[in-house]
Amino acid sequence: MAEPLLTLRQVRAGYGDAMVLHDVALELTEHGSLAVLGRNGVGKSTLLLTIMGYTQLRGGSIFWRGRNISKMPPHRRAREGIGWVAQEREIFPSLTLEENLTVAARPGPWDLTSIFKMFPRLAERRHNMGNQLSGGEQQMLAIARALMTNPALLLLDEPLEGLAPVIVDELSAAMKLMLSDRRIAIVLVEQHTDIALELTQDAIVLERGSVVHRAPAAALRKDTATLDRLVGLRVAGTPAHT
Ligand SMILES: Nc1ncnc2c1ncn2[C@@H]1O[C@H](COP(=O)(O)OP(=O)(O)OP(=O)(O)O)[C@@H](O)[C@H]1O
Ligand SMILES: [Mg+2]
Repeated sequence: MAEPLLTLRQVRAGYGDAMVLHDVALELTEHGSLAVLGRNGVGKSTLLLTIMGYTQLRGGSIFWRGRNISKMPPHRRAREGIGWVAQEREIFPSLTLEENLTVAARPGPWDLTSIFKMFPRLAERRHNMGNQLSGGEQQMLAIARALMTNPALLLLDEPLEGLAPVIVDELSAAMKLMLSDRRIAIVLVEQHTDIALELTQDAIVLERGSVVHRAPAAALRKDTATLDRLVGLRVAGTPAHT
């Protein structure tokens, strides 16, 4: 079996006194992929923030390549190889697209050449300023910028949220490429359940901060009863009910 990259054991975490995550356990192997599903407000973003170290950990532990990183500050987790794309895209508006990419770059397989090959749309806009990009281009840029740090794990928080169908297709294809290269592991928070489960190997569903379902992604994809009960089935083009 592949070596565990990230392990969460009985993690309890939240903001100040407000506890959001309750005894969350998960394991991700090198090159693994995990979909995190659940309705609005169940703690999906909080889970990613906790992996990055931005919340208060009140119990349990987080291991990275077998090392306990529970007390490690966020910037060091990033340096260790954990990349994160926040739900709010944080593009530098006054830098060009290319400068946005190179500002935090670290050596590795992801460089301007491989990024522009994966996102031709970004190559065309490389000299545009950050604030001259569409929402979809900004989202691609946010993901591309995280890849430029050459992380071993990428945490993606609803990368497809609010994007036009054509951009959703382009980004999904890029994520598929990213994963098929087997150079990276991902945790993907998505409300596009069908796409998330097609891209990933494993899935968990959160409800009120707890993992209430765990399955191989392919199995959960077919389990429409569970999806309907815990996530709300999404018919193409309509928002998931919450
Ligand atoms: N900074 C914060 N301070 C206090 N409570 C917060 C904070 N951020 C989120 N919460 C609370 O934590 C809970 C989980 O929120 P979170 O953003 O993790 O949910 P989510 O599953 O990502 O939702 P969505 O699908 O809407 O993005 C909610 O009750 C929310 O109000
Ligand atoms: Mg969220």
